[in-house]
Amino acid sequence: MPEATHPELELDDIQAGALFERPSPYVGRYLMLRIADRADGRELVRRLHRIATTSRTNDSGDDTSLTVAFTYHGLEALGVPRQSLDSFAPEFREGMKARAALLGDVGESSPEHWEPPLGSADVHVAIAALSPDAARLEAAAEKARRAHTELPGVEVVWRQDCYQLATGRTSFGFKDGIGQPAVEGSGRPSTSPREPSLKAGEIILGYPDETGELPPMPTPEVLGRNGTYVVFRKLHTKVATYRRYLRNRAASRDEEDLLGAKMVGRWQSGAPLALAPDHDEPELGADARRNNDFVFGDDPRGFKCPVGAHARRANPRDAMDQDGSVDVRLHRMIRRGTSYGPMLPQGALEDDGADRGIIFVFAGAHLKRQFEFVKTQWLNDGIFIGAPLEKDPLVGPNDESSGFTIPRRPIRRRLQNLPPFVVTRGGEYCFAPGLRAMRWLAELDT
Ligand code: HEM
Repeated sequence: MPEATHPELELDDIQAGALFERPSPYVGRYLMLRIADRADGRELVRRLHRIATTSRTNDSGDDTSLTVAFTYHGLEALGVPRQSLDSFAPEFREGMKARAALLGDVGESSPEHWEPPLGSADVHVAIAALSPDAARLEAAAEKARRAHTELPGVEVVWRQDCYQLATGRTSFGFKDGIGQPAVEGSGRPSTSPREPSLKAGEIILGYPDETGELPPMPTPEVLGRNGTYVVFRKLHTKVATYRRYLRNRAASRDEEDLLGAKMVGRWQSGAPLALAPDHDEPELGADARRNNDFVFGDDPRGFKCPVGAHARRANPRDAMDQDGSVDVRLHRMIRRGTSYGPMLPQGALEDDGADRGIIFVFAGAHLKRQFEFVKTQWLNDGIFIGAPLEKDPLVGPNDESSGFTIPRRPIRRRLQNLPPFVVTRGGEYCFAPGLRAMRWLAELDT
């Protein structure tokens, strides 16, 4: 279907979070707020509605964005009518903490160890501000501060600064944020020339999705339309443990890099193993026209990129085509991950005690068939790839009992006793409404 016949995305109403192209590098801040008083909460939303930015442009003209989202408890605190609350996706209503065991948040990652108040009924509103530099971020943060000061019934309960390095690399050393689906009508280009744009309804509510249907949407329509579900997870990365694990198993530094690349599916530079199976090619990693121009169909056994590598699990591309029962396009997502905490100095093998990692952010119309499906079926559990005992080697809930198979000729290599490299510090399921919906929330008179 030609683009012009698609229902037009209301980019002026859709908040920046999911579709707006971020500056690179950037600095950012997440705030979580609690609404103790309903009237103050609505006043907060009225003010935030005026400063939230949209997907159309960088409204402020300086690449700064400000996105607002609500938890289920937040919508309750604002007095959203019961019938409307009940129309939200069941996973969202339950909240991430209730889904923890299913998501693999066990042991060190289980909610009893989460950073308070994440996962509790005290987290109501999430605000994300992003800017190309600290001065402009402060200006945006000041606007947010003005929105909640002098409102005694609203308090900031959690705050996290974050950033993206100019290299795009995150704490394990890998460039991230390369693979991203394009959304019809968003104006965002596809990162992969092999992947047609997704129907808008896969990401934004109120539009047909890949099945040709309108995804289930909260009611009334003014509340649901142009909204998107958001998954927010603070993921601590055990960088020293990861480096030591590779050092102890590799015969040389080059092999260390290779084993790391096999776990991720890309070299640290971002060059995909599918195109550079034997050694890193930094120019390829840096070339946005080429670094996502690949599929896996010519490598069914994973000699170039292991079937169990993180990025191949998270997006198996055409590798699932033979199976026929799985449509990869129903399990795509917009990722808005970002770094927090200082990087561990290069070469350091001992932990310095600093908290560092990734704020993983998902945006999509389907919490269950997108985020939860990928996390539970593809990352935590490898049955679909015929290796039932293996989990994602980098981000899976490993406990030193599982391993990672690297297909190789004449014999495969198996890394044993994988420890957990990533620990969940907390998270929330949120809903980022459109601007009209925010006005509706502010004007509730229940
Ligand atoms: C600390 C945790 C994580 C780290 C360090 C991490 C790291 C990475 C890296 C380095 C890449 C390759 C770069 C790219 O293709 O953009 C990647 C890709 C990806 N990751 Fe993660 N990731 C983490 C958690 C997750 C989680 C929890 C999910 C989903 C539930 C996820 C989904 C994806 C997806 C969909 C891709 C893109 C694959 C593609 O399109 O080729 N990641 N990740």
